Amino acid sequence: LPDGLARTPPMGFNNWNSTGCAIDEKMIRDTADLFVSTGLKAAGYEYVNVDDCWAAERRDAGGRLTHHPVRFPSGIKALADYVHSKGLKFGIYTSAGTQTCAKTMPGSLDHEETDARTFAEWGVDYLKYDNCNNQNRPALERYTKMRDALRATGRPILYSICEWGQNKPWEWGRDVGHLWRTTGDINDSWQSMLGLFKANAPLARYAGPGHWNDPDMLEVGNGGMTDTEYRSHFSLWSVMAAPLLIGTDLRKATPGTLDILADREVIAVDQDPLGVQATVVRSANGHWVLAKPLANGDLAVALFNETEQSAAIATTAAELGLPKRSGYAIRDLWQKNTSHTAGAIGATLPAHATALFRITPGGDWWQAPPAASLTLDLPA
Ligand code: GLA
Repeated sequence: LPDGLARTPPMGFNNWNSTGCAIDEKMIRDTADLFVSTGLKAAGYEYVNVDDCWAAERRDAGGRLTHHPVRFPSGIKALADYVHSKGLKFGIYTSAGTQTCAKTMPGSLDHEETDARTFAEWGVDYLKYDNCNNQNRPALERYTKMRDALRATGRPILYSICEWGQNKPWEWGRDVGHLWRTTGDINDSWQSMLGLFKANAPLARYAGPGHWNDPDMLEVGNGGMTDTEYRSHFSLWSVMAAPLLIGTDLRKATPGTLDILADREVIAVDQDPLGVQATVVRSANGHWVLAKPLANGDLAVALFNETEQSAAIATTAAELGLPKRSGYAIRDLWQKNTSHTAGAIGATLPAHATALFRITPGGDWWQAPPAASLTLDLPA
């Protein structure tokens, strides 16, 4: 939606991948606290989102959705206030159907105005709108109805279309929501992550500021993949300008998990203001080269080894379409080192690993350092 929200892909947290329905308000408060204390907020994470199962089984006497009495005893308004008190934003979930997917609470189909008003009154900043129990009514009609209801509240609410790619939401989502799921649900496995990557990567041309492809939330830290595989997951989501919604219980996160999630240089690729999703430059035999142009003229390049064997993956400045220069600086975003090349770019990668580079044409590496630093080096 061209309304100023989500000019870069949303960053935050959603409880679903780690808890399913076993959610409670304490986890949401703890997550908001941890966003601040671990530096994730400073790294750009902003939305703390609740998924399915937050509501009571029935609407209240006024026909409104209301909090689950055991999981969210203090109510949703108090929870949103708490998240806001940390300088963060609060997100919620419902379905464009008669019930949500877990069927523990009512959906919002034919209650769009009431529910949008309720959310706005509570201070909701983000709505994930799911697709279950939709009575076979047309997706465009159902998702547009909620867009209009949200708009009518006057509160800026980021709107996530969770339609799983069934009705090609990339073809109509741009004017309806800020992002749209392109796939079914992720699970915490290499095969799942890989499948979603492959489904989402060809859709690059549909993404841009205010309208993003969403290959689903992160599984980083949940235990079903190695840290090498989680770095690939995070690298691929970042070059694809995917939303970065943490899906692990941060109260149990290892330092390794936090290192991946909080990597500023990788996050900067995802959040680059140009808002271009990487295109696949080449893929053969499970060796991938993806490139994402960045606002300052740099190029982010992912070399991804899908295979079970280590592999040397190589490309060149010419193949990447970089402007012709006598040299290029290559910043390795995970290894944290910078090198230089006349044009060859490559890496030897273990099975399932990704190298993520930021390439600066020219790179100024052969030039004299700026005058200011020369001056500083002079003896007193
Ligand atoms: C669907 C969505 C998931 C999650 C669950 C909740 O499967 O795609 O992301 O929200 O519903 O029940």
